[in-house]
Amino acid sequence: MRTRLVEVDDATAIMNIYNPEVTEASISFDLVPRTLEEQEEWIRRHLATHPCIVAINVDDDVGELGARGERILGFALVSPFRDRPAYATTVENSVYVCRAARGRRVGEMLLRSLIVVADESGFHSLIARIVGENTSSIRLHEKCGFTLVGTEIEVGRKQGAWLDVVEYQYVMPNRSR
Ligand SMILES: CC(C)(COP(=O)(O)OP(=O)(O)OC[C@H]1O[C@@H](n2cnc3c(N)ncnc32)[C@H](O)[C@@H]1OP(=O)(O)O)[C@@H](O)C(=O)NCCC(=O)NCCS
Repeated sequence: MRTRLVEVDDATAIMNIYNPEVTEASISFDLVPRTLEEQEEWIRRHLATHPCIVAINVDDDVGELGARGERILGFALVSPFRDRPAYATTVENSVYVCRAARGRRVGEMLLRSLIVVADESGFHSLIARIVGENTSSIRLHEKCGFTLVGTEIEVGRKQGAWLDVVEYQYVMPNRSR
């Protein structure tokens, strides 16, 4: 397994990993699956300012077909946290692993690599906002050094249920920027 920055030609793979979590689960707060055009535009935006990395399978055929026929096992990204400029060094992070590859440390490798990429990009603080019942994501973030900030009660509604969000944070050890 290795990681690299996302490319526009990974759009179908990213979409195939992400959309089932939109339509079949309460993990994502999106309600409508992305089209290929939307996914490509999303990647272009991330290439410009807020990095997204993908995990490439180098061992077997598991994963979604990405650029150059590579097998994408998952992706991780940072996005803007708040609009106002003093928040610019804080980002929100997300990690998604294709269902066939879960439980094999892909998520852990992606999140650890993302922390390095975010640090190199000059971001100081990462915020993960996780649906309260998502124990695998909570465990993953705790394992990678995130600590619990708090819980927002019933801030989301999806598939007829109220959703709590737990907020976890990782602060870069380097305080100079
Ligand atoms: C959350 C997710 C990224 C984890 O990725 P993964 O590759 O399956 O996780 P890893 O194999 O790297 O495991 C990392 C840690 O999480 C734990 N974990 C993984 N799945 C778990 C589960 N279903 N229940 C409890 N813990 C779990 C692992 O045990 C491991 O901790 P450990 O070393 O103490 O055992 C993956 O399940 C996923 O894509 N889920 C859907 C999308 C999602 O929830 N994204 C996060 C949005 S905030």
